[in-house]
Amino acid sequence: MKYLWTCKSVEAMHADVADAEHGLKRSLTAWNLMALGIGCIIGAGIFVLSGHAAASHAGPAVVLSFIAGAVVCVFAGLCYTEMASAVPVSGSAYTYAYATMGQLVAWIIGWDLVLEYALGATTVAIGWSGYVVSFLKNFGVIVPPALSQAPWNYDPLTSSWVHTGALLNVPAMFVVLFMSALLAIGTRESARFNDIIVLLKVTVVVLFIALGIGSVDHANWITAANPLGSFVPPTDSTGNFGWSGVLRGAGVVFFSYIGFDAVSCAAQEAKNPQRDMPIGIIGSLAICSVLYAAVAYVLTGIVPYDQLNVADPIAVGIDALHMFWFSPIIKLAAIAGLTTVVLVLLLGQTRIFYSMSRDGLLPPIFSNVHPRFRTPFATTILTGVIVSILAGLLPMGLVGELVSIGTLAAFVIVCIGVLVLRKTRPDMPRPFRAPVIWLVAPLGALSALGLMSGLPADTWWRLLIWMVIGLVIYFVYGARRPPVSR
Ligand code: ALA
Repeated sequence: MKYLWTCKSVEAMHADVADAEHGLKRSLTAWNLMALGIGCIIGAGIFVLSGHAAASHAGPAVVLSFIAGAVVCVFAGLCYTEMASAVPVSGSAYTYAYATMGQLVAWIIGWDLVLEYALGATTVAIGWSGYVVSFLKNFGVIVPPALSQAPWNYDPLTSSWVHTGALLNVPAMFVVLFMSALLAIGTRESARFNDIIVLLKVTVVVLFIALGIGSVDHANWITAANPLGSFVPPTDSTGNFGWSGVLRGAGVVFFSYIGFDAVSCAAQEAKNPQRDMPIGIIGSLAICSVLYAAVAYVLTGIVPYDQLNVADPIAVGIDALHMFWFSPIIKLAAIAGLTTVVLVLLLGQTRIFYSMSRDGLLPPIFSNVHPRFRTPFATTILTGVIVSILAGLLPMGLVGELVSIGTLAAFVIVCIGVLVLRKTRPDMPRPFRAPVIWLVAPLGALSALGLMSGLPADTWWRLLIWMVIGLVIYFVYGARRPPVSR
């Protein structure tokens, strides 16, 4: 128990980095890192959830929801970047917590990050499955629902599980296993694959904006519930729309920004982490924020928002422009785009397990590096198998909310951690110093807590249960290990 509050020194972490010369390959450039971020950020959030947020929560003001989500992420992003540049070791918020708040908090955050990364990959794989089924249908190929849906769905109104009659979500399982195999073979190969798809994804999003912006007509803001066509529709009896709806919408579209922090997980594989990590994190976040706000404005400007509660809202937008040739291209790009999100989230998860194992908090198998591929092979395969089983069995809404709450909790800890480190290690070299940190970090933590408070009680309970399981494992296994590197 005596190590609970002991921090791992930053010097020990730098020694780990030097040691990693014998482990992971340093192969990622600033562009690779930024592409890694964008590859992880643009995904199910914009391609699937944007329409739902507009239709159910915010109307055209979903633009503001996206901007609010971006602001929360910028605060956290600045803190992540300072941490990532000062502590350039694999493991994301887990590593930062170990350097600042001790072993117990580090374990809590590492365990919590499983919700962001492993369950994030699960969520996006389920979204991927939906797009693939819809794309194939355009070409007359029908995937039976029994093989493309979760066997159970959770009904939040009655708090009960409903059997859907389906067997397994096979496409979702397939994409996870395929991406895991790719990651197991090599990071550079995966990064190259990622670069190409990121380019495709960004091109399609920019094309959507360019093709649609001329057709935006504010008359489309008029619906039965918004007869005056206000940008912020009037609040309804359930608290949706109006300014409260904008906030709820922000909670939903927050998912679309998750991923910029995944860049920090690859710090140990960056060629020049001190210079390249800030470029990777802030750069990818900035590009995506601008694209999202623009997509949201165009989408709600070409289709009345009450028609957007569909699985493929961007394709619906294209159809409204009568550019039917572009619709399958959009779907294909979405499929490719979601693929890279799964890839990067899986990469993040395996690297967090890798770091936790090197610190002795998980068994050594999690940090075994394959002699030829030089990747954490066993962890990658194990993670892939478990995530694919979850993707085959669970419904998207339920896992998605757990991802959001887990990620926001990580934001809170990183924002506090950066302040702790400024106090306890004021002289430590920080290649990137976040501006006005005493304002930015508290605002980051508070705004993340604000979004968390909007999530349902069920989700809070699941977070709590997950954390209790984690603490039991920690006290049985990890707590006996001193905080030194191997
Ligand atoms: N931001 C990622 C997505 O939207 C997780 O799919």
